[in-house]
Amino acid sequence: MTTQPPHQPQTAPRTQGYLSELFSLEGRVAVVTGGSSGIGRAITRALARAGASVVVVARTEAGLTATVEELTAQGCRAAWVSADLSTREGVRTAAERAVEAFGEPDILVNSAGINLRPPMDELTEDVWDATMAVNLEAPFLLGQRFGPGMAERGYGRILHISSQQAHRAFVQSGAYGASKGGLEALARSQAEAWSPRGVTCNVLVPGFVMTPLNARLSSDPEKVAALAARTMIGRNGLADDFAGAAVFLASPASSYITGQSVFVDGGLSVH
Ligand SMILES: NC(=O)c1ccc[n+]([C@@H]2O[C@H](COP(=O)([O-])OP(=O)(O)OC[C@H]3O[C@@H](n4cnc5c(N)ncnc54)[C@H](OP(=O)(O)O)[C@@H]3O)[C@@H](O)[C@H]2O)c1
Repeated sequence: MTTQPPHQPQTAPRTQGYLSELFSLEGRVAVVTGGSSGIGRAITRALARAGASVVVVARTEAGLTATVEELTAQGCRAAWVSADLSTREGVRTAAERAVEAFGEPDILVNSAGINLRPPMDELTEDVWDATMAVNLEAPFLLGQRFGPGMAERGYGRILHISSQQAHRAFVQSGAYGASKGGLEALARSQAEAWSPRGVTCNVLVPGFVMTPLNARLSSDPEKVAALAARTMIGRNGLADDFAGAAVFLASPASSYITGQSVFVDGGLSVH
């Protein structure tokens, strides 16, 4: 009687070593804005589980503490900073307090965002200013604060979360689409400035993801189904769909990818 050779145990450590070389974030420090909810929270979890020490920045303490407690319970290193990124002073305070936990970051993820959606005719200057401040100005200011240091140290990863509405108008893109269009252009400018010194700057572009950001739209089953039907995969996005792309773009494996917008949208944008 022949028996199957046992599964070769020496393969696993070799594979693990190779995967670590490519993707491990061990020893890296990450700052994730909006890391207490939705896409940002899934990215925070992914970076932390890949080895990074992560500082989560948002306003509401309950979401921040829940995120950090979840991660520390899994043996990850995480800390939080409560700050309002809608003012320049708030951004500056956030940055200064963020470095107190683990030092200067190697990875910056800008996921904090707002989408206020008034029809264009009713879009006030206040809505315009608030949208630009959180969605575009805060990523710019945090880039100015952390990008040069990353470049000086020779390694950095900046990752922005944009939107389909940077590329096409739908569901009242208003100021939001304009802010996200600017954000993608900002990523290219940052890439131009800092990539020669090891800092890559890229964008993840979601499709429709059911998070608190779009609670109103998510509560309409017909609209949700219609959006799912517009994807190629046949479903809307989940926050965890961003985990792999975020780890990849934060890791050594993506060192030759910069200035790019990567669509994590189930094919929505190409259907
Ligand atoms: N969900 C989607 O379908 C979708 C589609 C395209 C793009 N996006 C983009 O993906 C990113 C994440 O969205 P999400 O769906 O994950 O949204 P979410 O669940 O609403 O999370 C937004 C995060 O940003 C934080 N935030 C908002 N305003 C802030 C401020 N002034 N200062 C500091 N933090 C602030 C929130 O925390 P606090 O409220 O506690 O401050 C929260 O942590 C956003 O940039 C969004 O534009 C989402």
